[in-house]
Amino acid sequence: MIGVGSKGKATREGMNLAARLHIPHFAQGTPIPPEIQFLFFYEEGALFLGDLEEKFGKPFLVDYLSDEFYHRLETASKKDPLLKASGFEKGNRTFLDASYGLGYDSIFLASRGFGVTACERNPYVYEFAVDALVRLKDGGGISRNPPQIFLGSVAEYIKEYPAERFDTVYFDPMYPEAGGRSALAKKEMRIFRALVGDDIDAKELFPLLLSRAKNRLVIKRPDDAPSLVPESTRKVDIKFEGKSVRFDVYLVDLN
Ligand SMILES: C[S@@+](CC[C@H](N)C(=O)[O-])C[C@H]1O[C@@H](n2cnc3c(N)ncnc32)[C@H](O)[C@@H]1O
Repeated sequence: MIGVGSKGKATREGMNLAARLHIPHFAQGTPIPPEIQFLFFYEEGALFLGDLEEKFGKPFLVDYLSDEFYHRLETASKKDPLLKASGFEKGNRTFLDASYGLGYDSIFLASRGFGVTACERNPYVYEFAVDALVRLKDGGGISRNPPQIFLGSVAEYIKEYPAERFDTVYFDPMYPEAGGRSALAKKEMRIFRALVGDDIDAKELFPLLLSRAKNRLVIKRPDDAPSLVPESTRKVDIKFEGKSVRFDVYLVDLN
């Protein structure tokens, strides 16, 4: 179970977060029952998440202003596999991220000029990512076109906005066996996995996502994983290989 802990000036913010997420709030000095495994807390204006047994290491936050992420933003070339897969060079500009997660892919693409609309259905992840986005905006980063994030599943979004189409639709669902490798091997990503679980319905979304793409659907996979849907259902048109991931591109036939 998850809760919010807070102290001092951050107490009001912590209480508000707990109320939005319908989870218990623990003010400083209140005993935390053993069933609470994860705790959100605010420190120096940023939202952190930790696990009380520290099985996953130190608490972490989403930080789009970190040196590591800044380095990715600054150094990614036109050959970056996500950028290429998304078709920016081909003139694609509108982008639906069906799986915002911690938002690093969306922020990267927005910083390169995509107009990003994103969906995140897990309310904990949503709060975590929105907190980072607010800090990014306050810090002067990405003031021109920040991603617009919808709290809910992409299917709900499409139901609410049935006429919307995007040049590129992107989907990066949790992959069940990704435990020991890639970014998910990081301790913080293991907390994320414990919080979100597996996106077991990912395959079923394929036709819906494809129907919303004007130019292409891009699906991120671990490099050694099969495509999301069998090749006999729909063949991947182009594959872009990253370090430990692959971007499968399905082009939309406009004829
Ligand atoms: C692997 S993470 C995405 C990571 C992201 N690309 C990044 O750069 O941080 C997958 C996220 O997509 C969300 N998700 C999966 N299926 C979804 C759906 N159908 N609608 C909305 N969000 C979804 C999950 O809750 C999870 O937070």
